[in-house]
Amino acid sequence: VGASLRERWLAFRNRWLADSRFQEWATRFPLTRPIARRRTRELFDLCAGFVYSQVLLATVRLGLLERLREGPVEPAALAHEGVLDEAGSERLLRAAAGIDLVEALPDGRYALGALGAALLGSPGVGAMVLHHELLYEDLADPVALLRGDVPEARLGAYWSYAGAASPAELPPEDVAGYSSLMEASQGFIASQVLDAYEVARHRHLLDLGGGTGTFAAAAARRAPDLRVTVFDLPAVADRARTRFRAAGLDARCDARGGDFLAEPLPRGADLVSLVRVVHDHDDEAALALLRQVRAALPATGRLLLAEPMADTPGGEAAGATYFGLYLLAMGSGRPRTRPELEALLAHAELEVCSEPRTAIPLLVRVLVARPATAADSA
Ligand SMILES: C[S@@+](CC[C@H](N)C(=O)[O-])C[C@H]1O[C@@H](n2cnc3c(N)ncnc32)[C@H](O)[C@@H]1O
Repeated sequence: VGASLRERWLAFRNRWLADSRFQEWATRFPLTRPIARRRTRELFDLCAGFVYSQVLLATVRLGLLERLREGPVEPAALAHEGVLDEAGSERLLRAAAGIDLVEALPDGRYALGALGAALLGSPGVGAMVLHHELLYEDLADPVALLRGDVPEARLGAYWSYAGAASPAELPPEDVAGYSSLMEASQGFIASQVLDAYEVARHRHLLDLGGGTGTFAAAAARRAPDLRVTVFDLPAVADRARTRFRAAGLDARCDARGGDFLAEPLPRGADLVSLVRVVHDHDDEAALALLRQVRAALPATGRLLLAEPMADTPGGEAAGATYFGLYLLAMGSGRPRTRPELEALLAHAELEVCSEPRTAIPLLVRVLVARPATAADSA
């Protein structure tokens, strides 16, 4: 009854919303006008999103935000510095002001805007903006992508492990690009995960798919007695080892190279983390990975699963829309809701015991799970 009531309501509402005469009336009628304005704005943003992204790309590529960090500029100054000619500079600065990357001052100069300043504070975002050039090539024909008719997706090649028959044999040059991008965007993720869950209560952390060790090093710094092992593809693990040595952490942090789907995981850790890893894999591989985790964990051990999720209130567009299409272009994986992750975990005999809150759930959420047969509490 609930479903059919809802469907009847949707049919009723949508008939009105799709009626151009109703739209006209709603725009004129004072009580519905604010809603009409908001809906128009939302629809306009959906239609124009690509243009906003390309304005953002231009500001990042031209180093405009770094330039504004030094102080407000006028378009002529940018022209003088050879960034763009004066007309191009003016056009870009006004466009960037429209989306809060910069802010127009009354005297014709432009200062850094609120979003531009925030972007400068998170260098990972700038790296993602540049990286999106590949994604947008793959998305040029979204229907072809959805039909699986983009066999040479640029993201598929970039994320070389996605779909690789023997990922453990990937050479260093094939993992360098994505490893640097992950490093650039990991700092903020690591602090949120480590604020949400206290790793110091554990003895030994195994960070699966831990990349070049950014999260592992942050965990080791938080918990001075924690031992940390990164497990990743051999070419990536080499980079993690180098990082640990350079940071003077190699007494407590090491890295093992291998394929986490094809070989037994190192034993002895009482905490296993999967940070931005499960969503990379289709259900079958994700389940195989979780079963590996289950086999490696002692009865009192814990799994820390951290990634953006598809059902985050207010973050659905980032989860289902952005990551849904991103991972499709990459060639494997999908963003999952918490119930979907719980179902996968249950199949691997792992049960969620808590979801400690992170500061920005849109970017990363954390599930803590334990072996389903363990008798103790979280
Ligand atoms: C999206 S990245 C996340 C890296 C890191 N955890 C982070 O959040 O920055 C996924 C990682 O999983 C690793 N990976 C993918 N397939 C793997 C496999 N079969 N065996 C071991 N590592 C793998 C990749 O090399 C990569 O470092």
